[in-house]
Amino acid sequence: MTFAPSCVLVTGGAGFIGSNFIRWILGHQPGVDLINLDLLTYAGNLESLEDLAGRYYFIRADVRDFDTLSRVLHGAGTETATGKTTGRPLPTPDCVVHMAAESHVDRSIMGPAPFVDTNVRGTLALLEACRGELTPRGRPFRFLQISTDEVYGSLGPADPAFTEATPLAPNSPYSASKAGADLLVRSYVETFEFPALITRCSNNYGPYQFPEKLVPLMITRALADQSLPVYGDGLNVRDWLHVEDHASAVWEVLTRGRLGEVYNIGGGAELPNLAVVRALLSILGKPESLIRYVTDRPGHDRRYAMNTEKIARELAWRPRHQFRPGLEETVRWYVAHRRWWERVLSEAYRATNALYLEGDVIL
Ligand code: NAD
Ligand code: DAU
Repeated sequence: MTFAPSCVLVTGGAGFIGSNFIRWILGHQPGVDLINLDLLTYAGNLESLEDLAGRYYFIRADVRDFDTLSRVLHGAGTETATGKTTGRPLPTPDCVVHMAAESHVDRSIMGPAPFVDTNVRGTLALLEACRGELTPRGRPFRFLQISTDEVYGSLGPADPAFTEATPLAPNSPYSASKAGADLLVRSYVETFEFPALITRCSNNYGPYQFPEKLVPLMITRALADQSLPVYGDGLNVRDWLHVEDHASAVWEVLTRGRLGEVYNIGGGAELPNLAVVRALLSILGKPESLIRYVTDRPGHDRRYAMNTEKIARELAWRPRHQFRPGLEETVRWYVAHRRWWERVLSEAYRATNALYLEGDVIL
């Protein structure tokens, strides 16, 4: 039976995937209210959402803050006043799409603690707040945990793609924290009959991605004629999923997925990193001499690949974007939105991520 939400609470909606998901819902699902609950860490940027209005609400809050979460889930929350909004009462959510997280693998290697704190403890606080609100309510409710292919670990070149039954074998503090959160969600399903689902997706690309991740980092550095740091031999393989395809998949799982189930989401575009970087250089008309091989990421997973037969079979979902045109469109977006990424680079990025980018010295 289809679940028809009237108000979605999105955590982490000021981040890359969250802001694209919100934009997608407002564009494709008329009649659905959206609450964006976000702490606005270095990765959260309200400028990614500044053109939105109407059925969109924002509250600045921490997913570890049980009391505030409970208030919002109870329908007693108040919007955070920003330049555009004045503190309206929030509508009552009937589902949660949990995206808030510390999301960058390199940062988790520099300092694992915030990853456990936000990704594990934050998910626990949110689950507890939902459970507390759900019990007396007795009406349909859904919780969707947004997870990652990285929880499955690493594949060899000839291994079959990850399925939903692949055992979890995370290799970085980031993926371990996401696996921990997934297991908490699973335990709530089993123990409390909690109405949750989990999606695990591959590497997203598209507009509004913080320029620490491969695609926007390479675009913004190439535009400045700076060297492009490729880890190791550049032959690690990722599967690339356009962020709009991710948004539509999340909606299908939220509304039509089977409770308690895990769904893989992939873009069907497996490529070595070097091929992605070369494609970006050719789109930008920049020379391959900008590529600089640097020390490999510790514990660097060699290959991810997603078997997406389950979501295709059960929910008839397939990615619509082809990788090359999607990448060209992404490059055009960064070229046209220089102000957006120059601001985050100057005010936050340089101060907080100096491991690989200390001036132009690649460590
Ligand atoms: P992001 O880093 O761009 O955004 C994360 C958002 O969460 C930010 O807006 C940040 O302010 C917010 N946040 C962080 N800590 C918070 C807290 N304690 N309370 C409230 N808000 C907080 O991340 P993203 O790339 O958009 O990823 C979103 C989700 O998707 C994450 O759960 C990530 O693990 C998952 N994921 C991402 C990818 C990818 O390719 N980017 C792939 C698979 C899964
Ligand atoms: O697979 C899903 C995951 O994709 C998400 O769960 C994570 O939140 C998201 O950050 C992403 O993780 P990756 O580590 O795969 O993404 P990243 O963009 O950091 O790196 C992609 C590949 O490119 C990886 O093999 C490392 C490599 N790389 C990355 C950077 C930043 C480089 O070679 N040079 C770089 O400067």
